[in-house]
Amino acid sequence: MPHPTRQRIFISGASSGLGEGMARRFAAMGRDLALCARRLERLEALQAELRSAHPGIRVEVAAMDVDDPRSVATVFSELADRLGGFDRVIVNAGIGKGASVGTGGEAANRAVLHTNVLGSHAQCEAAMELFRRQGMGHLVLISSVASVRGMPGSRTAYGASKAALNALAEGIRSDVYGSQIEVSTILPGYIATDINVGRRGPLTVGLDKGVDALTEVIEREPVRGYVPPFPWRPVARLLRVLPLSVVRRVTGS
Ligand SMILES: NC(=O)c1ccc[n+]([C@@H]2O[C@H](COP(=O)([O-])OP(=O)(O)OC[C@H]3O[C@@H](n4cnc5c(N)ncnc54)[C@H](OP(=O)(O)O)[C@@H]3O)[C@@H](O)[C@H]2O)c1
Repeated sequence: MPHPTRQRIFISGASSGLGEGMARRFAAMGRDLALCARRLERLEALQAELRSAHPGIRVEVAAMDVDDPRSVATVFSELADRLGGFDRVIVNAGIGKGASVGTGGEAANRAVLHTNVLGSHAQCEAAMELFRRQGMGHLVLISSVASVRGMPGSRTAYGASKAALNALAEGIRSDVYGSQIEVSTILPGYIATDINVGRRGPLTVGLDKGVDALTEVIEREPVRGYVPPFPWRPVARLLRVLPLSVVRRVTGS
């Protein structure tokens, strides 16, 4: 069955990188947007750009700190009221930093786990409350290929945070299985953004190509989607079965 058009789309982490890129793509498709992040001035500049390029759409912006569950609950419901609900929620805000566990990087590792896991969880609570009330919606969690195996070095906490998102998404999906609420876990490979400056792995794609693939995959509403599908779907399959002695060499940082 074809998916309904997801007209009203919420995107967190829309002030840069993939979130900003998705906002531009969905605006060009005529969708209405609710955009949030901490850097409000960047969101306001994006809002002005999108409203002028696509006068028919609605673009609402608000500052939200996903580290603060009260900020998430309040801002999410304010934005939902402004658009009259959401058809799709893209849980995208995240950070990537850290160091090998036990080497003095405790604060950075904790920050990654806090923002990526608890920040995403807070958004899922808000989104699912709304979707349950509406009886429909598409929940999208932006995970990472770094979640399919334990990652060494600066990506250990990051990979663990994204593995938690995979489990969170599947649990929610299990809860609402067979209903009009769809849940997608999206696993990008390397796409050039601020999150990976100086830490880009092999097979990195440029932002435009990455965002094109990302929006295409999200529109298909898969249970699990890799971005870009090639090479990351086969790479992920391989990573799952390779011995750790090999995985650590190809994923080392
Ligand atoms: N690029 C890749 O290769 C790649 C691969 C796999 C997965 N991902 C995932 O894709 C998502 C987007 O990352 P990106 O690559 O686009 O990096 P980015 O350019 O650094 O964007 C991260 C976004 O998250 C927001 N954010 C961070 N902490 C926040 C907080 N406490 N509250 C609210 N917003 C917060 C930032 O906005 P403010 O600073 O304005 O708050 C920013 O808009 C992340 O979840 C990342 O893990 C990226």
